[in-house]
Amino acid sequence: MDCLKIIEKIYAANTSALAIIVNHGTCVAQKALSIADRLEHLNPDRNFIYESAMLHDIGLLHTHAPALGISGKHPYILHGILGRFMLENLKLYRHAMVCERHIGVGLTIEDIKEQKLPLPIRDMVPTYLEEKIVCYADKFFSKSPSNTREKTPQEILENLACYGQNKVSKFLRWMSQFGP
Ligand SMILES: [Fe+2]
Repeated sequence: MDCLKIIEKIYAANTSALAIIVNHGTCVAQKALSIADRLEHLNPDRNFIYESAMLHDIGLLHTHAPALGISGKHPYILHGILGRFMLENLKLYRHAMVCERHIGVGLTIEDIKEQKLPLPIRDMVPTYLEEKIVCYADKFFSKSPSNTREKTPQEILENLACYGQNKVSKFLRWMSQFGP
């Protein structure tokens, strides 16, 4: 499967957003694959990790993200499920779930209800090892083209603390399993 071709086809009319998606996806894929290398004993699916890391933010195109030069009609928080729909249309059902489940460290039914998020009420939490690795690696990179450096765990934890101690704990658990 040629991920770049898929992204280029979908983002053809917005070249600056195309560059953002490809650059961000590449950073996340590199980090995720380096984690997979350390977890060889768990036999992670490297090819799937690469592909889903490249595609995980594809739903951004239809969201309102002016800072990224994207002016879709949907709230930013929907980029996960929008990406799921887009990849399901391409029959990429397994990759689609990475889109849905990568927001923060995963959204639970309680998160969606308590924060009154405009999302269907269901758990959207990384379940399989590969989904967890991509979600974790994603937290290290901003999508901003002016800030492509890898974030420190401290920066990530400070941000997650805004969403509750359980999010911090989950990231710390992943960090001990996957490495910093
Ligand atoms: Fe991302």
